[in-house]
Amino acid sequence: MKQVNVQKSKVRKVIIPAAGWGTRFLPMTKIIPKELVPILNRPSIDLLVDEAINSGIEEIILVISTRKQEIMKYFQPNIPLEEELKSKNKWELLKHVKKTNRDAIIRVVYQYEQLGLAHAILTGARFFKNEPFAVILGDDLIKSKIPVIKQMMNEYDKLGSSIVGVQNVEFDKLNKYGIVKPKNISEKNNKLFEISGAVEKPLPQKAPSSKAILGRYIFNYSIVKFLENLDYSNENTGEINLVDCFDKYLKEEKIYAYEFDGKRYDLGSIEGFTMATIDYSLENSDISSTIKKHIMNLASEIYSETALLDLNSEKNKGGK
Ligand code: UTP
Repeated sequence: MKQVNVQKSKVRKVIIPAAGWGTRFLPMTKIIPKELVPILNRPSIDLLVDEAINSGIEEIILVISTRKQEIMKYFQPNIPLEEELKSKNKWELLKHVKKTNRDAIIRVVYQYEQLGLAHAILTGARFFKNEPFAVILGDDLIKSKIPVIKQMMNEYDKLGSSIVGVQNVEFDKLNKYGIVKPKNISEKNNKLFEISGAVEKPLPQKAPSSKAILGRYIFNYSIVKFLENLDYSNENTGEINLVDCFDKYLKEEKIYAYEFDGKRYDLGSIEGFTMATIDYSLENSDISSTIKKHIMNLASEIYSETALLDLNSEKNKGGK
């Protein structure tokens, strides 16, 4: 048989930082890591691990805090449960349970103090040796035909420079993200462009562009030196942001922005999580028709309420 020579990506490892406090989901996050909150029946972090594995990543480093051991347990085999399902001939369920023990190597690294995202990435990259690596943030779940990190790995393999994943965001949301300063965008390929800097959470009117960095990165190993030199004892905010190190890094290395294809959900917010749950439920053939009916009933209730409100406000105007 003829051998097909598949070119492997130079990016083989990914860091998934998951050690944050998750304060936007309090009180639940007092005890349950937000990464284990499910979209239907799968913890959100499982969907990110899928993105990495479907991209051909071989090693996944989960950066967690000591209070989030349950994340590690989720990816370990549960033999008594497997035996129980086997004894009851529950083969379909067994398949689901076993799917969590993946083929890729999954390692857990502890970030003992929550000193921010930059520090979490440094913690995960400490054991790497001069090799590029990807970063996937759990707050951004992205549905796409080609996994987003794979789209970026393809660009990295051609460029050899660090890349941040971006998408346009609405004007009034620019102050929630790191916004890139494009150096020059060519007419030919305006999805991939070099950046001259990035600003963390700018006032919308001062933002250097509308393109926000959304939870996907590929870094050359050289970034580690810059992460090591950041001051993590910032007493004002308690943490140092990753974007803060880009300006220094850019003096020595190029960074590109890549506008990826895909629908993104902000899982860091309760609204985003709810929207993702609704969309995923509409794609699940076991439950989609029930959920669709429910949404249509809700829509007609909302429509008649709004129509009634409009009618009342017209009446009030007429009465004046
Ligand atoms: P966020 O800044 O969104 O913080 O972190 P958070 O703790 O997840 O959530 P909120 O804002 O308090 O609600 C962005 C990503 O970086 C990780 C988080 O787990 C999240 O995936 N992170 C943050 C760490 O791994 N360590 C940290 O010290 C801080």
